[in-house]
Amino acid sequence: MAIGLGRMFGFHFLENFNYPYVSQSVTEFWRRWHISLSSWFRDYVYIPLGGSRRSPARNILNLAAVWLLTGLWHGAAWTFVLWGAWFFLLLAGEKLLWGRGLARLPRVFRHGYTLLAVMISWVLFRSPSAAYAGAYFQAMLGLGGRVLGFSDSSSSSAKKGESVADTIAVASAYADIIAMRHPKEGAPMVAMEHSQIPVINAGDGGHQHPTQTLTDLLTIRSLKGSLSGFTVGLCGDLKFGRTVHSLIHALVRYEDIRFLFISPEELKVPDYITEMLKTREISYEEVTSLEDVMPRLDLLYMTRVQKERFFNEEDYVRLKDFYILDKAKMKLAKPDMLVLHPLPRVNEISVEVDDDPRAAYFKQVQYGVYVRMALILTLLEI
Ligand code: NCD
Repeated sequence: MAIGLGRMFGFHFLENFNYPYVSQSVTEFWRRWHISLSSWFRDYVYIPLGGSRRSPARNILNLAAVWLLTGLWHGAAWTFVLWGAWFFLLLAGEKLLWGRGLARLPRVFRHGYTLLAVMISWVLFRSPSAAYAGAYFQAMLGLGGRVLGFSDSSSSSAKKGESVADTIAVASAYADIIAMRHPKEGAPMVAMEHSQIPVINAGDGGHQHPTQTLTDLLTIRSLKGSLSGFTVGLCGDLKFGRTVHSLIHALVRYEDIRFLFISPEELKVPDYITEMLKTREISYEEVTSLEDVMPRLDLLYMTRVQKERFFNEEDYVRLKDFYILDKAKMKLAKPDMLVLHPLPRVNEISVEVDDDPRAAYFKQVQYGVYVRMALILTLLEI
């Protein structure tokens, strides 16, 4: 547009951007991106300093000078200096180290490398501070944290009789955050009281599972556009299913939510939850047939029968396949109903449902990654 307008007034502007994102190297990118700027620096800084005609060391120094100035040209901030330094490293690297090797790689790699290098530079370019850029890079790389810990209490001092309070006091000295999954209800609460650092309840016995709920809420809001005005069916093990308990606690905070609890008699939702719903005057029904209520649901939250919390194997075997969501049942549901599941699934959702566009349980996993990243960044105050 600028070139066209210039023409109308009799000016002839040179092209400033020439499809930069097709570039196969960073060197090529800077031949195509902001051409007037790079040619100015070439003609007025790089060449007067001797360009590449002096010694190789001098050549590198000239390049460094150009990129320090190009960085500062964009603004007086360290982020721009770092941005310039990044391109200096890439261009010097391509000139002296990997340029030839790069040219021999398949096109898709050259393109990918260039795009990645440029995208990293834009994070530095747009960040208000270097620390912000650092946090952004960590998030891009999956936070880059390290995990200390044990997946099984038998490999910790708990086996020797150490109390939760002491384990936590020790872990506080090593880590920045504790994420605790514990078979006993309330253990994270005890941990919180003895910890110097934030404690995330990653599931305590048959009680609660708040981070799964954050995941569920993000999934619902992202795929349904809202968290209000839904008839929510929760199906399966509502007695021991901690994800169910946490989700109910969270959803009551939103407007116009109706619950349908679908479970066998033995696995009904605990009384403390129905009491809470009564006090808050929130509508709920307890039923055993999934088919009967299917047409009314906006969301269906399926759960696994929690084998590990049963006192006897017989009861588990009798109840485990009580509900199996299959294609036939999905036919009864609304065309925009969502099926969620905290996973792992056992038999309660037949694999034939996986292709149904309403099956959201694997998308849910992806949202879980984002939510937990956000939670960790929040707790670290980054
Ligand atoms: C859930 C849990 O641990 O409560 N799973 C999970 O968080 N990955 C659900 C379950 O185990 O059934």
